[in-house]
Amino acid sequence: MITIHDKTFSPFISRDLIESRIAELSTQINTDYEGRNPLFLVVLNGAFLFASELVKNIPLTCEITFVRLSSYAQTESTGKVRQIIGLEEKLTDRDVIIIEDIVDTGLTMHQLLQQIQALAPRTVEIATLLHKPEAIKKAVDLRYVGFEIPNRFVVGYGLDYDGAGRNLDALYVLPE
Ligand code: IMP
Repeated sequence: MITIHDKTFSPFISRDLIESRIAELSTQINTDYEGRNPLFLVVLNGAFLFASELVKNIPLTCEITFVRLSSYAQTESTGKVRQIIGLEEKLTDRDVIIIEDIVDTGLTMHQLLQQIQALAPRTVEIATLLHKPEAIKKAVDLRYVGFEIPNRFVVGYGLDYDGAGRNLDALYVLPE
């Protein structure tokens, strides 16, 4: 058990299991992108550990860039929108692989994908460490998924609870 702020979390997925699963995803990406030069778009902050573990096992010639999403901005026509911040690379004709920590409702990823697609990449795929299928509100096509997990709050391996816990080398879950 570990305590972060006011909550106590139980062990969920070990570092060994996470890393061996990520190695499998790397192998898939190596096969799928052989002879291409993909651009990895890492969504900060949560995806930093997943991304580093994933790309360590990818010997392809590739580029890695980092973006953030703004906090929600409300407009009358679109409702809540999160904009991409920090993207300097041209995506035109690139094979883009978005790296995310978790797809929960899918709303964030849906918006991100629309903004990326507007920049005319050749292809876009998503790699996410975690996916909560029960929580999904907006379906998105997830090509590389580390683990499908129940609709419970998790922390560690890049994911935070109120800013803390990202450094934990394994995943922990809030008991029901
Ligand atoms: P979505 O738009 O609901 O898919 O939310 C995605 C974002 O919510 C992720 O990038 C995380 O920052 C956050 N999130 C969702 N579930 C969890 C969780 O269990 N632990 C930590 N952060 C989470």
